[in-house]
Amino acid sequence: MIESSMPRAAQGRERDVLHGDLQRLAALGEMTAAAVHDFNNLLQVVVSALRVIEGQLDPVPAQDVKDLFAQGLSAAQRAAFLSRRLLSYGTASGGTATRFELGAALRGSVPMLRWILGTRIGLRQELHEEPLVVECCPHELEQGLLNLAANARDAMSGTGTLTLRSEVVPAPSPSWPTENVAVISVVDEGCGMPEVVQEKAFERYFTTKGAGGSGIGLFAVREFARRNGGDAWFRSAPGQGTTVTVALPCRPLD
Ligand SMILES: Nc1ncnc2c1ncn2[C@@H]1O[C@H](COP(=O)(O)OP(=O)(O)OP(=O)(O)O)[C@@H](O)[C@H]1O
Ligand SMILES: [Mg+2]
Repeated sequence: MIESSMPRAAQGRERDVLHGDLQRLAALGEMTAAAVHDFNNLLQVVVSALRVIEGQLDPVPAQDVKDLFAQGLSAAQRAAFLSRRLLSYGTASGGTATRFELGAALRGSVPMLRWILGTRIGLRQELHEEPLVVECCPHELEQGLLNLAANARDAMSGTGTLTLRSEVVPAPSPSWPTENVAVISVVDEGCGMPEVVQEKAFERYFTTKGAGGSGIGLFAVREFARRNGGDAWFRSAPGQGTTVTVALPCRPLD
């Protein structure tokens, strides 16, 4: 055996290097999966935007414009399909945390949320008024909201209203790093979740959507919240919609 002919210290070093390589590989896999998942959400925004433009092309455009449009749309749809297949590799390791004002970030996400919801689902905003600072990666927060909006859209199968709500509440326990907590909720009027689904909804790779889902959305949202000192949970009942809540430590803007 090769091992028995190697000095013990060299064997140990080799094992450490291998272990380090494996850890880096695992981290790379997770980062790739998170990026692919977010890329897929962005593609959905592109596809919805193209669909709306397509419906508004009036007068009927020349054949070559129509063909180009069809090609663009089908390329975006194929890319979305491809990203779903790539998603079986892992997920979420996190972007760069910065301090930013939460209300402005939530308002800034609204156009993207509208695109992912499509034209038949309404968006109501019930946002807190006082300026609040949170510390996390703003892009991850936006991606999380897109995930939740995509879930809400799927649950409402075409029509209904999504409410984006935020408020400031006292921290639920002294273990929280700040006195107050920003609570962001995405409320839908969709099909809700039966108990068996609720038990597993946060699990990585759990999906009820067959090939159309990868089961990463809710998992990534809770990982994001916990990595930034917060948490995520939901309330849901069959036929009565779902409210997913993300809580993050926050401070007043000084
Ligand atoms: N708002 C919701 N209403 C009803 N069911 C939901 C809602 N959000 C999540 N679920 C259930 O939880 C499951 C897991 O959700 P999750 O977002 O993690 O994965 P997914 O939507 O199936 O796939 P994807 O990775 O594309 O997000 C869903 O398949 C669905 O059954
Ligand atoms: Mg989802």
